[in-house]
Amino acid sequence: MNIPFEIHRAPGTMRARVEDLRRDGRRIAVVPTMGALHEGHLALLRAARAQADIVILTIFVNPTQFGPNEDLSRYPRDETGDLAKARSCGIDLAFCPEAAAMYHAGAQTFVDVLELAKPLCGASRPGHFAGVATIVTKLFHITLPHVAVFGEKDYQQLAIIRRMVRDLDFAIEILSVPIVREPDGLAMSSRNAYLSIEDRRAALSLSAGLAAAQAAYAAGERAATTLLAAARAPIEAEPLARIDYVELRDAEELTPVERVEHRSVLAMAVVVGNETRKTRLIDNRVIG
Ligand code: PAJ
Repeated sequence: MNIPFEIHRAPGTMRARVEDLRRDGRRIAVVPTMGALHEGHLALLRAARAQADIVILTIFVNPTQFGPNEDLSRYPRDETGDLAKARSCGIDLAFCPEAAAMYHAGAQTFVDVLELAKPLCGASRPGHFAGVATIVTKLFHITLPHVAVFGEKDYQQLAIIRRMVRDLDFAIEILSVPIVREPDGLAMSSRNAYLSIEDRRAALSLSAGLAAAQAAYAAGERAATTLLAAARAPIEAEPLARIDYVELRDAEELTPVERVEHRSVLAMAVVVGNETRKTRLIDNRVIG
């Protein structure tokens, strides 16, 4: 039985609503997002729809996961458009709080997944993953889901959330959805909206690098240095792209690997643009 669509902005009323739904025996799924929804987000919502009786979309541009020189103030926001897209995927509830409702003045408690948050994006974005783990914990406590859905696009984030859920005994199943790409290979991202036409073309070097490494692996190459060189080449050939990192790591522990002997992730972050506009993009591919 369907419930009428509702938007909640206050954590208290949101939680009271899901407490009622849980008492009625409904299975609840949550899809946490920062809005500016694209087909990648919608794939998560559809996966959630297939898993649960009640699908909750959360939209919150979380200030604590942005560094001081990052794009918090210009992060794209379009709540009306987002809700229209999400409702076409059959969501039941949306939770769209204001920042003041989510962070208490004088908050002192953070969730930090120690080792998994150190390398890759954690190295160039200090504090980012503590911000993510903390807000995801809070969203879990407010929406009380049985299942939560995340994208493999943010591979390290997904690994951190899975570890947090295990380490802290959250009774929540974590479901992941493969990366949704544009027809030319660019991984969908809310930040793609920042790209100029030239940036957009330069951004194709990320998926080209991943494809080159995958081709080398398929041809029998197992050495990380060679696979990484293949992945870097198209990016280094692109004047508008600057590598933040391109690394090959164990798919579970995110520790460095020298040869691909079991499941590994080739992960990259690349800054695209000129002096006046810069967009940091991430992409990854599991190989082995
Ligand atoms: P956001 O970047 O909005 O992404 C929300 C979810 O959508 C994440 O699980 C992300 O991995 C997934 N996603 C984004 N692009 C995708 C794509 N092309 N294919 C598949 N999935 C994709 O990630 C966040 O927000 C935040 O850090 C959040 C978890 C909401 C905490 O603030």
